[in-house]
Amino acid sequence: MKILVTSALPYANGDVHFGQLAGAYLPADIYVKYHRLKGSDIIYICGSDEHGVPITLAAAKQNVSPKAIIDRYHDRIKKCFKDFGIEFDNYSRTSLPLHRKTSQDFFLKVYQKGYIKPQTTRQLYCPKCKMFLADRYVEGTCPHCDSEGARGDQCEACGRWIEPLDLIEPKCKTCGAVPEVRETRHWFFALSQFQEPLRKWLETKHDWKPNVKRFCEGWFKTGLRDRSITRDLSWGVPVPLDEAQGKVMYVWFDAPIGYISSTKEWAERIGKPNRWKEYWLDSDTRLVHFIGKDNIVFHAMVWPAMLMAHGDWVLPTDIPANEFLNIEGRKFSTSRNRAAWLPEYLEEFPPDPLRYALAVNLPENRDVDFAWRDFHARNNNELADVLGNFVNRVAVFLQKNYRGKVPDVTADDGASYEVLKAIEEAPARIGKLIDSFRIKDAAREVMTLPALGNRYFDRQAPWRSLKEDRGECDRTIATCVRLMSALEVLLYPFLPFTSRKIGKMLGLGKRSWDDAANPEVPGQLGHPEILFQKLDESFIDIQVAKLGDKASADRKPRRVESGERKAEGGGMITFDDFKKLELRTAKITSAEMVAGTEKLVKMMIDIGGEERQIVAGIGKAYKPEELVGRVIVVVMNLAPAKIRGVESNGMLLAAVDGDNVSLVTVDRSVPPGSEVS
Ligand code: MF3
Ligand code: ZN
Repeated sequence: MKILVTSALPYANGDVHFGQLAGAYLPADIYVKYHRLKGSDIIYICGSDEHGVPITLAAAKQNVSPKAIIDRYHDRIKKCFKDFGIEFDNYSRTSLPLHRKTSQDFFLKVYQKGYIKPQTTRQLYCPKCKMFLADRYVEGTCPHCDSEGARGDQCEACGRWIEPLDLIEPKCKTCGAVPEVRETRHWFFALSQFQEPLRKWLETKHDWKPNVKRFCEGWFKTGLRDRSITRDLSWGVPVPLDEAQGKVMYVWFDAPIGYISSTKEWAERIGKPNRWKEYWLDSDTRLVHFIGKDNIVFHAMVWPAMLMAHGDWVLPTDIPANEFLNIEGRKFSTSRNRAAWLPEYLEEFPPDPLRYALAVNLPENRDVDFAWRDFHARNNNELADVLGNFVNRVAVFLQKNYRGKVPDVTADDGASYEVLKAIEEAPARIGKLIDSFRIKDAAREVMTLPALGNRYFDRQAPWRSLKEDRGECDRTIATCVRLMSALEVLLYPFLPFTSRKIGKMLGLGKRSWDDAANPEVPGQLGHPEILFQKLDESFIDIQVAKLGDKASADRKPRRVESGERKAEGGGMITFDDFKKLELRTAKITSAEMVAGTEKLVKMMIDIGGEERQIVAGIGKAYKPEELVGRVIVVVMNLAPAKIRGVESNGMLLAAVDGDNVSLVTVDRSVPPGSEVS
């Protein structure tokens, strides 16, 4: 059996955010990595979605060509997935000639079979912009759920598909004008003819997720209407009909065909140009589409109907659609920069803690919330304190007391039996969960193993048996290394980078998923490695502060350095101007670096009974510990500012000569809070 896995092709109009990862990419990657370890014949296909209004709108907004947008984001997205450990067999793009040809051939075949027909229709037209307002070019109130800001293709709030003409109070997205209705000719796909075949087909999908099935049933109730699949735009795949000059395909017609063209590109790349057919033409192939819930209608109804109309290719076997990931209790909104961005995260932190935090909290059955406090806790309390601790204490103990040589014994005592049994059962149990798309449960299940390891280690207390009963100590340690060995394999789908680190210590080479039930143990263990870095508490505020309005926060927090502010204009100021400054002495009571920065120090200061927090860029010149106890001079009445997300209520004075920074202090002892004038 062959397995063809896809993740929704992301629009190449922006960076990848956590919501997308949790929806369509991380679960797919875990599923695929697991199957690769199982030895399944599996390929994982994706690519950038480079057509449609999302691209042309982004181009208009940034005043560049659509090509400039897609070239920029295609490369960024591709790199970022790679750095996050997402391993596609092929990551293509829909602007390729190969995709254009594949889509046009697809269109023609469906056209020739009589499922695509022209119709004259009424459409919204903006008299100011002089264009038809398809899809996202128009916004209004959703006719289904009354939410405002619904787009002409789909309502974000209720997920329903929208005909622009049905929008209540439509407005041109570009200029805000009220559109008028005009006639134009478009080609329609006969979706209505597939209502019955689709319903029958879906009835056979007993094990599909309830959210997907429910969604489809809702659609059947309203009844499927024929859909216009052409657009009056200059960006897209040209419609391959002479009568349709100047029209392009609707992006949702060509994009899923991208799954096929990307598979073709893969086959060419590996030098077996016909290999793609083995997946798409073999009715035995399991075709699995990982998507977010906003894509359900297209993948579970329109795309299968397109495939049925075409006739040659396999239909989706499963569509494990995820619900949404919210952030800090509210909906993701990329337009308002209420989002957490993958490239920004990866600039500072390793991939695995995020892979883990998302995996154990996937929105599989309902919307879930991503909170940085939660991430922080998972990193510190679960990854570092449980998994990292287990591996580290075993490796260090072995290094210290056995010079790294793993005792060659098999444990047969009762306490070890529990661990060995857990190892033996884990691969099948976790595998079953992954196979039924319960990835979240699978991730949680894996993490019970190092927790068990720690309990076992504590109970066995090898530091004691080392002196009292060497045989028992040998058995304990051998069992712990076995568990480590199983973990290298079982963690791989979830935490590939950590798995590789453990693998480096073990040096066992490639093993299969099933080998983990009875895992090999090396003769010698390599140097203990620290698997996870703990994060400081201040990390949470810094990350939360990054959320917000893109325009006002500018996404790059401004660094306020000591001595940066000067009287503007360079002229003289009056004494009254000077008197506006409230300068006082203050005593530094605590100081620490702002996590993730080289220069910023966060301090608590005492200003004669009043405590305040200030932040200053003096970390290169002073170590936090040497600051505590000093009496400095601060400007009290400076408006509070957030520096790297950390609140600063005042500014200290310092003499600055490049990197040579010297604090202004007082010459004799005066109490904190004394006025400086
Ligand atoms: N680009 C779409 C989105 O981000 C998904 C396209 S999936 C495909 O919502 F099937 F069309 F490829
Ligand atoms: Zn307009």
